[in-house]
Amino acid sequence: MKISSCIASSLAAGLLLSACNQNQPAKQATGNSSSSMTDSAQTTATGTVAAPATTSFGKTTDGTEVQLYTLTNAHGLKVSITNYGGTITSLQVPDKTGKPGEVVLGFANVSGYQSPEFLKSGPYFGALIGRYGNRIAKGKFTLDGKEYALAKNNGENTLHGGKKGFDKVVWQAEPGTSAEGQTLKLTYLSKDGEEGYPGNLNVTVVYTLTADDALKIDYSATTDKATPVNLTNHAYFNLSGGKDVLGHEVTIAADRYNVVDAGLIPTGELRPVKGTPFDFTTPHAIGERIAQVPGGYDHNWLLNSTTGLHAAATVYEPTTGRTMEVTTTEPGLQFYTGNFLDGTLKGANGQTYGKHAGFCMETQHFPDSPNQPKFPSTILKPGQTLKSTTTYKFGVRQ
Ligand code: BGC
Repeated sequence: MKISSCIASSLAAGLLLSACNQNQPAKQATGNSSSSMTDSAQTTATGTVAAPATTSFGKTTDGTEVQLYTLTNAHGLKVSITNYGGTITSLQVPDKTGKPGEVVLGFANVSGYQSPEFLKSGPYFGALIGRYGNRIAKGKFTLDGKEYALAKNNGENTLHGGKKGFDKVVWQAEPGTSAEGQTLKLTYLSKDGEEGYPGNLNVTVVYTLTADDALKIDYSATTDKATPVNLTNHAYFNLSGGKDVLGHEVTIAADRYNVVDAGLIPTGELRPVKGTPFDFTTPHAIGERIAQVPGGYDHNWLLNSTTGLHAAATVYEPTTGRTMEVTTTEPGLQFYTGNFLDGTLKGANGQTYGKHAGFCMETQHFPDSPNQPKFPSTILKPGQTLKSTTTYKFGVRQ
């Protein structure tokens, strides 16, 4: 989170959250300059970028029509996003032979995201997460002397916003273009008291599929009462084209991580990764040491840099050659290896989503920050504008 008024944020054991740096400047889109253009709808005859295609994504259980917006670029990347939950439902990326393939878990229709099995297991495939990403212990926090009780949806805790988080609401959508590529602007007003949170929170999220093969997500928010906010996206990536993710090689630009208790609530300890299975400062296959981590990876890493748009993680999948580079303005990265997927859900192409079928790289502030005064602050105040950017950039290695 970046707060435009540059209010100093908390220090977390030497970690300064700088809220004041500007985002990396936008790169100019190259329009139709690529020789490998595969989608004629992406540019117009004049070379300007056309708006994303809009199709129906079905009706929600309460009868609301929702849409699917498909953003393409000149290199054959294609991302589909629905205004139900601002959810990324599909992301097609070429492999090292140039053949595009699916790299996220998702469903072909909104009914997949509202099925009883999906709601029961709660994996949040591809969704926008808010008002507060990850857990708030015991579903409560105190702010300016007042205790707030939140909707609990994860045992005694609140996870990813509560019972009806931003993943389960219909966003206002505006497909468009920018100098960087096709865009989808989503807005949502989270009303004062929603899921127990204070303040009317106006949230805007802009997805951009850039000419240089990044899916960029720009988050912003304003409020009329002080409130915790922690926005992220819950895409499950799998660059392999169908296998589990254990062979993906991951690096994470972090020397420390949050130790958690049995309920996955941070204990407050920021432990060095050195000498532990959490050390991804050099590349390691996800499966190499996962057996040493009870339950699998589901932790927040403290990114070494916290200023500007900085490195979070890189991923390489050896069989397809696909790579993914994650940069963010956030101080943390929740690396979650799909430990709770159990094969009950089937994807758009009929594939079964079993344990470790995907991994998430949720850029964020730390879990339970509203109850942990030493963590960087997640409190947004009236008059401030939260700004946060994350990019997932794709490529191949031969
Ligand atoms: C959390 C996991 C949770 C998953 C799906 C992740 O962000 O860290 O504990 O199971 O989301 O809900």
